[in-house]
Amino acid sequence: MIKKCLFPAAGYGTRFLPATKAMPKEMLPIVNKPLIQYGVEEAMSAGIFTMAIVTGRGKRSIEDHFDISYELEHQIKGTKKEDYLADVRDIIDKCTFSYTRQVEMNGLGHAILTGETLIGNEPFAVLLADDLCEGSGGVGVLEQMVKIYEKYRCSIVAIEEVERDEVDKYGVIEGKEIEDGIYMISSMVEKPSIEEAPTNLAVIGRYILTPDIFSILQNTKPGKNGEIQITDALLEQCKKGMVLGYKFKGKRYDCGSIDGFIEATNVFYKKQNQSSSSEPKK
Ligand code: UTP
Repeated sequence: MIKKCLFPAAGYGTRFLPATKAMPKEMLPIVNKPLIQYGVEEAMSAGIFTMAIVTGRGKRSIEDHFDISYELEHQIKGTKKEDYLADVRDIIDKCTFSYTRQVEMNGLGHAILTGETLIGNEPFAVLLADDLCEGSGGVGVLEQMVKIYEKYRCSIVAIEEVERDEVDKYGVIEGKEIEDGIYMISSMVEKPSIEEAPTNLAVIGRYILTPDIFSILQNTKPGKNGEIQITDALLEQCKKGMVLGYKFKGKRYDCGSIDGFIEATNVFYKKQNQSSSSEPKK
């Protein structure tokens, strides 16, 4: 039912400068896989095979990553190194990718609006690749959200409890818990101060949005930091209908920050080592 996933990937990634001066933040690797590939794999396990990516200047390597590299593949053909490309080849075989450019970085809401041309008039997922998420019991976060969408058919944002002194980094929701871990949102505020924050339930980088969000975004004025905020558009959607907050099952790594990036690197490196040491030696 949700067929497309939008990846806003046009931001400058200033917290990773100088690494991100000429290289997209989304291509930074956790161990040996770029962040955006983890995101695409999460979308695939939710049954989504059409990827729509909002890029900007200096982001060409994202397009190249999800394309065949004939010279490289010819070079390593018949060697064990072919295995390194197996996952990304599988992605290329199963998914289609389309791209559009955000010309001015006017915020996440603006990036999502820029993606309208790739999405059209249907509900869609949004995945911010710098939030690296591991699901629970083999079920990814987006897959959990698609199931909730099938029941409620409205926009859904993934939420997580954060430390009170961290609320000013996030959109924060207020709402009534209508089912275990599912909140009917009554209010939302972007990057509130600790005093202003209604709760410590923060929105993280996974959304399912109904397409009426586009006309709302068209009329959304710049908000916090002079940017068009998806939080403001979602609040409008709440007033017109219903938006849910879903406390996802699993773990999120904030790979848009150095600390989260290093934490994810350490955890994934250990996991990779454990699984390779349990494999028979070739
Ligand atoms: P962030 O604010 O975390 O990313 O936006 P950033 O601006 O790239 O990073 P810093 O703060 O300068 O280090 C969240 C997501 O929204 C996208 C970003 O690419 C990121 O995936 N985004 C943000 C856009 O695509 N366009 C924008 O105008 C703003």
